[in-house]
Amino acid sequence: MILGSAINQQMENSSWVRRMFEEGPRLKTERGEENVFDFSLGNPNEDPPVEIMATFRQLAQKNRPGSHTYMPNVGFPAVREVLAKRLKRDTGLEFTQDHILMTTGAAGAINVVLKAMLNPEDEVIVPSPYFPEYFFYIGNSGGRLVPAETDSDFMLDIDAIQAAITPRTRAILLNSPNNPTGAIYSESSLRDLEAMLQKLDHLVVVISDDPYKSFVFDGAQIPETSSIITNCIIAQSWSKTWALAGERIGFLAISPRVADAKLLWNACAFTNRTLGFVNAPAIWQWVVAEAPEAVPPLAMYKEKRDRLCDGLARAGYEVRKPQGAFYVFLKTPIPDDIAFVQILLREGIMAVPGIGFGRSGYVRLSLTVPLDTIERSIPGFAKALESCRGMH
Ligand SMILES: Cc1ncc(COP(=O)(O)O)c(C=O)c1O
Repeated sequence: MILGSAINQQMENSSWVRRMFEEGPRLKTERGEENVFDFSLGNPNEDPPVEIMATFRQLAQKNRPGSHTYMPNVGFPAVREVLAKRLKRDTGLEFTQDHILMTTGAAGAINVVLKAMLNPEDEVIVPSPYFPEYFFYIGNSGGRLVPAETDSDFMLDIDAIQAAITPRTRAILLNSPNNPTGAIYSESSLRDLEAMLQKLDHLVVVISDDPYKSFVFDGAQIPETSSIITNCIIAQSWSKTWALAGERIGFLAISPRVADAKLLWNACAFTNRTLGFVNAPAIWQWVVAEAPEAVPPLAMYKEKRDRLCDGLARAGYEVRKPQGAFYVFLKTPIPDDIAFVQILLREGIMAVPGIGFGRSGYVRLSLTVPLDTIERSIPGFAKALESCRGMH
């Protein structure tokens, strides 16, 4: 067997999102492209903003000596300086370029910091439902994901988190706005979390995974986690905001209030190198520093959210509109979400079962599809609901 047993096992249990992704081409051949409604993958379908691409083109033409060679593993100092200033402005904390590390997306950032922090068998608490790749990111550093259920509105349950803490807990990995639920963790819940962490007899950091940070609807406010949590590490990217997931650009920011921030930053520079990322893509570092700070196309996502949620509600589903991110986490009409995904597939609709995110009884629908796909999918959803009548 050419594969290691751990990888073999991980691939077998691998993400439902990917399984659906693989199902897509088969369904399209079978039913025709226009009869497949693929809500499975969180990959923005629009092009990046024109001003971003203009900055990219301009930078590609500029001959900046040394800009294509190896660089400091943490990224260009001038780029980190720009990001540190923005963070200082937003949080009031004394961020400098020596708290920032440019990474290959938020995924790279999380892997780098976990590699720097975890001993084998150390635990990372993750509020559930959660992004399933966390399981592998934590496993890559020999750690263990410990889920802590959120409440019935998918908000943080501080008692559940406290109950999950053991002497092996090193970090709590938060994602707000959340994939898959769209929940935004409130300022008061973060304050309660901070109060609980302060009472512990060992250091537990919060890693705030924020790739959806600016995806908020209906005037909802997103609290600055690092302004509230003392030992906070931020992982962010432009994958979702600017529809740039393929360019792999993001950053890690270690709050100046973190105990031994400098030591951790140095260790992350090392793990960025030894994990083989080495440094974040050079040209995209300059783009994110030089292009205007853009917000995602919120009006477009809000319209998609409303059309899908209103259409599903009219069809008879119990719907909760997400406050943020770009997913609808839909309660399934039968408890078995895997069976419901199969029923949806009969209508050409691809969704990811909630069990893949640690919560059965739901499916995740991604809003990264054209509006027209949403409109045309509603009759299929209605038929799927009809098929479930009388089933338990
Ligand atoms: C919650 C969450 N974290 C991290 C990532 C990875 O993002 P990136 O492309 O920036 O690595 C994703 C991507 O879907 C995500 O949903």
